[in-house]
Amino acid sequence: MKTIVITGASSGFGAALARQLVEQGDTVLGLARRQDKLAELAQELGARFVPYAVDLTDKAALETTLTTIKQAHPQIDVLVNNAGLALGVAPAQQASLEQWETMINTNVTALVRITHALLPDMVARNQGQVINIGSTAGEYPYPGGNVYGGTKAFVHQFGLNLRADLTGTAVRVSTVAPGLCGGTDFSKVRLGDADKAAAVYANVQALSPEDVAGTICWIINAPAHMNVNYVELMPVAQSFAGLSVHRNAV
Ligand SMILES: NC(=O)c1ccc[n+]([C@@H]2O[C@H](COP(=O)([O-])OP(=O)(O)OC[C@H]3O[C@@H](n4cnc5c(N)ncnc54)[C@H](OP(=O)(O)O)[C@@H]3O)[C@@H](O)[C@H]2O)c1
Repeated sequence: MKTIVITGASSGFGAALARQLVEQGDTVLGLARRQDKLAELAQELGARFVPYAVDLTDKAALETTLTTIKQAHPQIDVLVNNAGLALGVAPAQQASLEQWETMINTNVTALVRITHALLPDMVARNQGQVINIGSTAGEYPYPGGNVYGGTKAFVHQFGLNLRADLTGTAVRVSTVAPGLCGGTDFSKVRLGDADKAAAVYANVQALSPEDVAGTICWIINAPAHMNVNYVELMPVAQSFAGLSVHRNAV
């Protein structure tokens, strides 16, 4: 039975993963800002789900939480860096710098800080696993994806480079990159409007949080000699757009 840190456990993929891991007997330490959502999950899942309410972009608060976690749970077997967000769909020249910085602070800086804090113990024990949640937005550009896609491209490459540094250890690193997935707060957060968010998933069978959580569980339960480097998931309804060409009117 493993002790697993999940960032962004209050909704979406993180909450679905917490449910699946507790069900299989693991202990989940769930981090997020929304204390009420974490408390509801703790009520549902019982003592094997331990909530930690923290804003991951607050450096001092994050350090305090990580110190508390390490004291209570000296052995963290798996870190799932799932917390993240997209804000807005404006083209770069109209985008909010504040929103860009929030995405970078959450999707990149916080992820790097948590990994930096927990990785050395895994290497010292020669056992552990880091699983980062990327996105198809980190592979395929689209209008309005600008900094969100950039942060997820960082996550993908950071994972591969971590694994390169860890060659010769038993510590595993994986990236899961989902495409269109409903049933989470992602589009509500991005668009700031429940109706616009619902329209993103209208008349399409998107991935579910349980699909993504199941993939992460499979990676966690994979044989210790096997490293899943990168997995990309899309619903069957989604595929690739062509390159765009703007033609001047004649
Ligand atoms: N849904 C999709 O289509 C999709 C596709 C590809 C990748 N992803 C990625 O998957 C991950 C999970 O997203 P989701 O779809 O499950 O969306 P979600 O339901 O909005 O979940 C995001 C989680 O991140 C947490 N979070 C955000 N900012 C935080 C902060 N400053 N401090 C602490 N926690 C924070 C949120 O908790 P609080 O708000 O309570 O803090 C929430 O638990 C994200 O990295 C996202 O970029 C999503």
